[in-house]
Amino acid sequence: MNADTPRPPSMSELAELRLSRRTAIAGGLATAAAAFFGVPAPAAAGAGVGTAADAVASAGHGAGRPLLGFPAVAPSTADAVKLPPGYRYQVLYPWGHPIVPSGPAFREDASNSAADQARQAGDHHDGMWFFPLRDRRSGLLCVNHEATTENLLHTGGRAAWSPEKTAKSMAAHGVSVIQVEQDRDGGWQVAESRFARRVTMTTPVEITGPAAKHSLMRTSADPEGMRVLGTLNNCASGPTPWDTYLTCEETINKYFYYGEQPPPAGSVEERYGIGSESPYPWYTTDSRFDMRTEPNEYNRFGWVVEVDPFDPTSTPKKRTALGRMEHENAVVVRGRRGEAVVYMGDDTQFDYFYKFVGAEPIAKARRAGRSPLDEGTLYVARFDEDGSGRWLPLVHGEPGLTAADGFADQAEVLIHTRLAADAVGATPMDRPEWCTVQPHTGAVYFTCTNNTARTESADAANPRLNNRFGHIMKIDENGNPSAVRFDWDIFLLAGDEASGATVPPDQAFGSPDGLWFDAVGRLWILTDGTQPQVDGADQNNQMLVADTRRGDIRRFLVGPPRCEITGITATPDGRSLFVNIQHPGDTGTPENPRASSSWPDYSPTGRPRSATIVITREDGGVVGA
Ligand code: FEO
Ligand code: CA
Ligand code: CA
Repeated sequence: MNADTPRPPSMSELAELRLSRRTAIAGGLATAAAAFFGVPAPAAAGAGVGTAADAVASAGHGAGRPLLGFPAVAPSTADAVKLPPGYRYQVLYPWGHPIVPSGPAFREDASNSAADQARQAGDHHDGMWFFPLRDRRSGLLCVNHEATTENLLHTGGRAAWSPEKTAKSMAAHGVSVIQVEQDRDGGWQVAESRFARRVTMTTPVEITGPAAKHSLMRTSADPEGMRVLGTLNNCASGPTPWDTYLTCEETINKYFYYGEQPPPAGSVEERYGIGSESPYPWYTTDSRFDMRTEPNEYNRFGWVVEVDPFDPTSTPKKRTALGRMEHENAVVVRGRRGEAVVYMGDDTQFDYFYKFVGAEPIAKARRAGRSPLDEGTLYVARFDEDGSGRWLPLVHGEPGLTAADGFADQAEVLIHTRLAADAVGATPMDRPEWCTVQPHTGAVYFTCTNNTARTESADAANPRLNNRFGHIMKIDENGNPSAVRFDWDIFLLAGDEASGATVPPDQAFGSPDGLWFDAVGRLWILTDGTQPQVDGADQNNQMLVADTRRGDIRRFLVGPPRCEITGITATPDGRSLFVNIQHPGDTGTPENPRASSSWPDYSPTGRPRSATIVITREDGGVVGA
C-alpha cells in the first residue's frame, strides 16, 4: 500500500487531477481514448463520471470510421456461449481432444490415462497465439493449459490420490502446439502435423539468462541449476517478432508444500505467496514439490518461458532476465534501436507492472546466436499522482539493491523480483493482468482486474477502495518504448453505476483480465471474476470490444456459468477469432460433474470442458467489424 496517500481521492478530485494534467501536457497522444472513458469530458466535468456517449459528443474529432459493426449482446446466466446475431462458433479444441486426429480419443468419464493426457489437450486453456502457415488456411495454434479442476480431471476426482493422478494432472498443465486447418465451408479442424506436441510438467526446459546456474536455482535433481522439468500454471502468453511463443508462469505457489506452519512473516516465501497448504496434492507422491526437502524447486518457476512452435524438437527456455513473479502475459514490441521491449504484469493484489528492455537489437542478437531476451534491463513502474511515471531499473548495485540490502547479485534481484520492486518504491496496483499495445500509437493498456483487499488507501492509479470491478490503465511512452519516463491515465473504470464505472450501464462488466488490440485497433476486453448483477442475479463472464477513438464499447460474447473468458487470437485476415472458455462448470463433483454446466458437449454422461472455440461471421466477414 502507498503510505503517502492516507485517504483515497474522491472521484471528482481524481477527475480534476487528470484534467489539469491533460491541460498541462496539451494533447498529442494524451489521448482521446482516456478522455472518452476515463474521466469526465470537459463539458461534463464536475458532473461526476462521463459516459462513452458524452465522450463521443464532446470529442467531435479524429474518431474516424466506426470500428464496431455488431449489436451488443445482453448479459447472460445461460449454460451457453452467446454471440451477436450473424455470428457462430465452433468448439475446436476442448480438454482431452487429441493433439492429432490419430491420437488417443477423449473418454467422457475422465478415464483417460496420464499417458493419454500427454497427447491430448490439457485443462484450463488460457493464453494462445495463431502462427499462420504459408497457405493461409492453416496455422500453428499454441495454447496454454494453466491449471486443472481435479474433481473433473479424474474419474473419482481427488479421492484416492495416486502417482497416476499426479502424472495426469501434470500432463494436463503446460502448452499445446497443434496445427489447425480451415476447410472450404469455413470450419476448422485439428490436423495431423509434424509440429504437434505437448509441453507438460515433465518436459525438459533450459534455464537461461542471469539466474541460470545460480545457487538458488540448484536442486538435488539438477545440481547445475540449468535444467528444470516442466512449466507450470501457464497463464497468458505473447508472440515474439521472431515467431516464437512466450508462455507465462503465474500462480506457482499453489503447487508447493511448505509444511504445517506457513512461512514466517516477512520471509521471501511469504512474499511469493507460499502458504501452509497446497491445493495440489502432487507433493504427496513427488518430493520435488515438498519444500522441506527441495527448498529451491519453486525458484525454478514463475518465469516467462519461450517455446519455438516451428521446431517440435526444441527445448523450451526459461528467460530469467524477465524476472520472477506471478506472470500474466508478455507483450513484445521493438524499441527504437530494434531491441526487444517486453511489457508484463504481476497478478497479485498490490503487485506491480514491469517492462524489460533488451540490451541489443533483436537482429544483432539473433545473428550472433543470442536470445534477445537474455540480456537487458528489467524495470518496474511507479505511477505518480500528476499523471507521469517512471520506469525504475531493477539492477544490482542501485540504491536498495545491493548486497547490504540482501541481493548478492543480479540473479538474486531477478529470482526475488518482487522484493527488488518493493525496495525501489514501485506503485502497488490492483492486480495487473493482461497488457496490450495499440498498433498505431504504441500506447500500452493493461487491466487491473480488481482488489477487494484495498481497504485503507487509494491513489491516483488505483482510485477505488474495495475495488470489486477493476479498471484499465493506459501508459503513453511518447513514441519511445525504451524510455524511462512515461505518462499515464486511467482508460476506464469497470463496474456498475453505483461503483462509479465510466462505461455505459447497459455494457457494464467487471474484472477485466484479457486484453488485446486486433490489427485495426479494436480493443477486446475479456473478463474473469465478479460481474455486475442484473436484477440481483450474478452474471456469467463476458467479452466486450471497445473502439477507443470513438468511445464506443459493446458486449460481444457471454460464456457459460463459472467460466472465465481468455486467450484471444485471430487469423491475419480477422475472419476467424479464436477464444478460450476456461473452467466452465468448475463446481462439478465426481458424483455430479454437471452441477453447474454441461458446456460444451451437453452430454448426459459427460462433464464440462475448457475449450478453444473459433468464432466466424455467417457472411464470412471480419469478426467485430
Ligand atoms: Fe491466470 Fe491472472 O490469470
Ligand atoms: Ca488471467
Ligand atoms: Ca483473472
